[in-house]
Amino acid sequence: MQAPGTGSVEGVARPVTALADVTVAAGHRVPTGITEFDRVLGGGLVRGSVVLIAGEPGIGKSTLLLQAAGRLGSAGVPVLYVCGEESLEQVRSRADRVDAGPGISLVAEVDAAAIEATVLAERPAVVIIDSIQTLFDPGLDGVPGSVGQVRATAARLVRLAKTQDVTLIVVGHVTKEGSIAGPRVLEHVVDTVLYFEGDSDHAFRIVRAAKNRFGSVSEIGIFEMGEDGLAEVGHPSAALLSRRSEGVAGAVVMATMEGSRPLLVEVQALVTPSYLPTPRRLSVGVDTPRLLQVLAVAERRASLPLGSFDVYVAVAGGVRVTEPAIDLPLALAIASARRDQEVPRQCAAFGELSLTGEVRPIPHEAARVREAARMGFDVVLGPTRAGKDAPDGMRGVQTLAEAIEVLLP
Ligand code: TYD
Ligand code: MG
Repeated sequence: MQAPGTGSVEGVARPVTALADVTVAAGHRVPTGITEFDRVLGGGLVRGSVVLIAGEPGIGKSTLLLQAAGRLGSAGVPVLYVCGEESLEQVRSRADRVDAGPGISLVAEVDAAAIEATVLAERPAVVIIDSIQTLFDPGLDGVPGSVGQVRATAARLVRLAKTQDVTLIVVGHVTKEGSIAGPRVLEHVVDTVLYFEGDSDHAFRIVRAAKNRFGSVSEIGIFEMGEDGLAEVGHPSAALLSRRSEGVAGAVVMATMEGSRPLLVEVQALVTPSYLPTPRRLSVGVDTPRLLQVLAVAERRASLPLGSFDVYVAVAGGVRVTEPAIDLPLALAIASARRDQEVPRQCAAFGELSLTGEVRPIPHEAARVREAARMGFDVVLGPTRAGKDAPDGMRGVQTLAEAIEVLLP
C-alpha cells in the first residue's frame, strides 16, 4: 500500500510563482465620470472586473448604465452595450432623452456565444449586458432566466472578462416577491455587487455596494430620477429634507451615516387604534425586528402603551436605515405620534436603545452633529458617554424616558 501523496498523478505540473513576484498593476481604474457611481465602485471601474447591478425592474438600472456608457464613450473609452431586452430604437430614444453621447456601440443579442465572439472581434474596454436574465447559452437546456442558464452565461462572461481584460457590467433583475433567479446566484462569481434601491414612486435612487473586491462596501451613491435621466444628488440631506412634513406629529429627523457621509432623514410614525386581534406593525426602510424591539422598549421603559394600537413607520425618501442609531429617533417618532404631539422642528436625534431603555453610544457622533448643525438643527439628542463631553451642539440623554421628557414635555 502506498502512503498518501506518493501515488502517481495524472495532471501536469504547472510552474509556481512566488507571491513577491506577482506584480499588481496600479491605476487600472476607469472613472465613469458620474461621481456618485464612481464612489460606490471604489473610484471607478477596475479593468477586467465584473460588476453586477441588481434591482427591481423599472428602478433605473438601464438609465444609469446608459448614462455611464455615454460618459465613457465621450471620454474615448470604447463601450459595447448589449441589448437583450430592448430594441436598438428604444435604447436610442432613451439615450437621446438622457443625452448619452454618440460614442456607444450597440448590439441586440441574447446568445452568449455570439456576444463572446462580438467582444473578441470588437475589443471594447467596457461591455454592458442588459440583462443577464435574457441571455442563453446555446449548448445548454433551460429557458433564459432559469438558474442554470443565468449561471452558465455568467460564468462564460466572467471568464471572458478575466482573460480579455475587459470590464463587464451585468444587469440583474430582482423581483418584489424576492424570486431572484439571477442576482443571488451570481453574487459569488462577480467582483462587485451593487444594489439599486429606492421605490419607483420616489424620485430618490440609492446605489449601494453589497460586495466589492476593489473598494469599501459602506459607500453609497445617491441619485434623483428626473425627466432627463438620473441626476446626482451632491447634497443629499438638503434634498431629503426639502419635502419635510410640517405641522404633524410623528416625524423626527435622524442623523444617519451612509458610508463615510452623514445624512439627515425623516423618520415617520403613525399610531392608530387597532381593530385587529393582533395589532398591525408595518415598516418601510426599517427592519421589522428592530421596530418590534423599539416598541417593546418604549412600552416597558417609557410607559408608552402601544398594545392596542396599529403602528406604521417609514423612513422618508425611500432610504433604508439598518444601523441601530435609528432606535432613538424611531421611538421618539412613535411617542410623538402616539401622543399626537409634534416634536420641535429644529430637533434631530440619534442613538441606539438598550433593552433597559438606555441610550447607547454609536459611531461618528461628531460628524452627525455637524451635519445637523449645518442644516440648521439646534438641538440634537444623542447618547451620553461616561467621563466624556458630548460633541458641541449635542444634548446627551441617558434614557428614552428622558429623551421623551425633553422633546415632548
Ligand atoms: P429603467 O432604467 O428602464 O429601469 P430598469 O432598467 O431598472 O428596469 O428606468 C425606467 C423608469 O425610469 C421608467 O419608469 C421611466 C423612468 N425614467 C424617467 O423618469 N426619466 C428618464 O429620463 C428615464 C430614461 C426613465
Ligand atoms: Mg432595463
